[in-house]
Amino acid sequence: KNISIIGVPLDLGQNRRGVDMGPSAIRYAGLVERIESIGHQVMDEGDIYVDAAEQRDSDETNLKNLDEVVKATTRLAQKVTDIVESGNFPLVLGGDHSIAIGTLSGLAVKYKNLGVIWYDAHADLNTEETSPSGNIHGMPLAALIGLGHDKLVNLHNEGQKVKPENVVIIGARSVDPGERELIREKGIKVYTMHEIDRHGMTTVMEDAIAYLKDRQVDGVHLSLDLDGLDPLYTPGVGTPVPGGMSYRESHLAMEMLEDSKIITSAEFVEVNPVLDDKNKTADVAVGLMGSLFGEKLL
Ligand code: ARG
Ligand code: MN
Ligand code: MN
Ligand code: MN
Repeated sequence: KNISIIGVPLDLGQNRRGVDMGPSAIRYAGLVERIESIGHQVMDEGDIYVDAAEQRDSDETNLKNLDEVVKATTRLAQKVTDIVESGNFPLVLGGDHSIAIGTLSGLAVKYKNLGVIWYDAHADLNTEETSPSGNIHGMPLAALIGLGHDKLVNLHNEGQKVKPENVVIIGARSVDPGERELIREKGIKVYTMHEIDRHGMTTVMEDAIAYLKDRQVDGVHLSLDLDGLDPLYTPGVGTPVPGGMSYRESHLAMEMLEDSKIITSAEFVEVNPVLDDKNKTADVAVGLMGSLFGEKLL
């Protein structure tokens, strides 16, 4: 593969500082060398420009830092479009999860029936009406299926970027009331921790992959929020939720995605070195990318 890496040092989609250092922490954990050693061609395209939190203007809506998030994610979307049009595989490093609005809006230019695997403790399906926090990192999936603030919905291009039936959420264990309603109404496929405990990660991933193939998707994006894992393994995240997927389950999931050959782009988000324990979360992220890109022990 020809892999293009883009960092997005954005921490304005939530209210804890530090997640803007995520891309540096992930690079420092040896990302480029790790992926090159598997045999891929890697192009580090650097970081997307993001306004500093200190220079932001005041908010006109209850969405925190809306304009700044829109500016940065619009730049990201353009970059991602350029990368997919050149035929490279985009690997996006966050930054908080609001960046997914940019990544997927950029991908949607090429992929008209894109599948999405959302590996996360949360559903990120809030809108400005349902959000308990006003944090845009809790809203990207809603915006991408066409719901919420029109500046988010119409970013890079007008309207819906992903069909709700093409979304699979894995690892959910913290879902707000409005999100639950939306999941039911839109028929979004969700594997909660209950399904993972009950049937095992192997079955869940086989099922998820078969579901997306049935949908005849023309590509699959992996959006991996490090808080999907149990905070025991990834303590450096802003919104940890206990009872998450293990290190081994997560590696298994990445290996099964690699074997299936369905993944056409990926992003790893919410790594926050300020909250971390000796860069452990970035190390785990790089290990997972190793498995996703085909690292084999023997
Ligand atoms: N559901 C909560 C909210 O809307 C938490 C969202 C956490 N999202 C994330 N990407 N970590 O604020
Ligand atoms: Mn503003
Ligand atoms: Mn999350
Ligand atoms: Mn998330």
